[in-house]
Amino acid sequence: MRYTQEFTKVLTCRELSAGIYEYTVAAPQISRLARAGQFVQILVEGKQLRRPISLAGFDAAAGTLTFIFEIRGEGTRRMAEAQVGDTLDLIGPLGNGFPLPEAEHVVLIGGGIGTPPMLPLAQYYGGKATVISGFRSASSVILQEEFAAAGVTVTLCTDDGSAGFNGFTTQALEAHLASHPCDLICTCGPTPMMRGVAAVAAKHGISCFVSLEERMGCGFGACVGCAVDIKQANGTVSRLKVCTDGPVFAGEEVCW
Ligand code: FES
Repeated sequence: MRYTQEFTKVLTCRELSAGIYEYTVAAPQISRLARAGQFVQILVEGKQLRRPISLAGFDAAAGTLTFIFEIRGEGTRRMAEAQVGDTLDLIGPLGNGFPLPEAEHVVLIGGGIGTPPMLPLAQYYGGKATVISGFRSASSVILQEEFAAAGVTVTLCTDDGSAGFNGFTTQALEAHLASHPCDLICTCGPTPMMRGVAAVAAKHGISCFVSLEERMGCGFGACVGCAVDIKQANGTVSRLKVCTDGPVFAGEEVCW
């Protein structure tokens, strides 16, 4: 794994919806190494711990990274105080990222704050991809214009029906598969949603990759705080680390 520490300047920051922030930083070294599905560890001002945040975009030519996070506690609240021109201490890119196999018909499924990692995949697969994204309600919807700009077909779902399809992303996925071919599914979001997506993919015999979101301490494989049970090809189960062995695993490998 290749990663580096970089002191990055905040270029833009904005609140996408209530409590969800998007930052773009100048990070010429990390952006050169980054792949879809990887993450960075951001040092929180005044705290010893770093917070793992998935990449929502990277541009090696411009030397920039974009990440999106939701305020969930003191650490992320402090991160959201950073302003344009401030310096953020990042380590990355970390994790394995999505494998990006050849595919003609791809479905990308994001749930809530698990949606941003789908954006680099949407940009990679373009017109071959359909994005199904689910949110609690219309007020928490993000990134729909960005997905449309990537040239993908977009299906929006909300739990309360206040925007788009009233229901779960797994229901929208089943409806899509009933009338469209699909040879690859990638997903990131709440564990119950990814478990459901992996089950639908297995039922239809479609290759599926999931990006697990575990609590992380070190981010480098040292603390074992992110270990999960993963089935091996020989039928045994191993404890693997989401930070270094993942966060992306094949859906059928995960012991849900
Ligand atoms: Fe420490 Fe994964 S976060 S081993």
